[in-house]
Amino acid sequence: MDSITAIDISSTVGLIAMVMLTLNILMGLLVSVNYNPKTWWPHRKLPMPFWKLHNWNGYLAMGVAVFHPAILLFSSTAKFKIGDVLLPLNSPGQRLYNNLGALTFYSFLFVVTTSYFRPQLRYRPWKKLHYVAYGAAALMYVHGTLIDPNLKNLPTDFLDGEKVLVEVCFLAVVAASIWRWRYGTEKQRFGAARAAGKAI
Ligand code: HEM
Repeated sequence: MDSITAIDISSTVGLIAMVMLTLNILMGLLVSVNYNPKTWWPHRKLPMPFWKLHNWNGYLAMGVAVFHPAILLFSSTAKFKIGDVLLPLNSPGQRLYNNLGALTFYSFLFVVTTSYFRPQLRYRPWKKLHYVAYGAAALMYVHGTLIDPNLKNLPTDFLDGEKVLVEVCFLAVVAASIWRWRYGTEKQRFGAARAAGKAI
């Protein structure tokens, strides 16, 4: 049996971070429609408010995401140095995709940090900054799909198990965003019709 390498561990940690960040976007979409676990599924109160769960999952996901490139430092084949992890402009291997990974990380860090300071920023300015999460997610899915986990610069095998997981996460976010947008416009139409005194 082949032994597990630092790159294998880094890859698994990257996938875990991606799933957690995907879940966080899905949770954020539910927060935006005032999801209430008592009236919706699972019809009971959660141990903490849902928006708090969303925030904590975001912090935890970022904590996990830090380890993904950091573990590469322990690989003799990856040849990453600390500078390549922090700013991969001259990193070895798949430089472009490494840079997309770093951009993903810094964009999500921006989203999480600005959310922490939400009370000081006030709702509307904060909300605009929060849309960066969609850009960060797009970068994450491109990075996760196109990078060769074996660092051999091979073209992506879109049917490989790990890549299928990235694709499923991407499709889940696209589907949920479309649902959220349609839910919003339906609610607007309902509100406008009610304001105009029409029977609905
Ligand atoms: C929020 C930040 C990040 C997320 C969610 C993320 C996620 C992922 C995912 C899903 C994969 C594919 C794993 C596979 O196909 O098995 C991957 C691979 C990879 N990522 Fe990231 N990544 C992030 C940041 C970074 C950063 C900052 C770097 C380096 C500077 C980086 C370097 C790599 C490398 C070299 C690979 C291929 C080897 C491996 O899988 O470890 N990533 N990443």
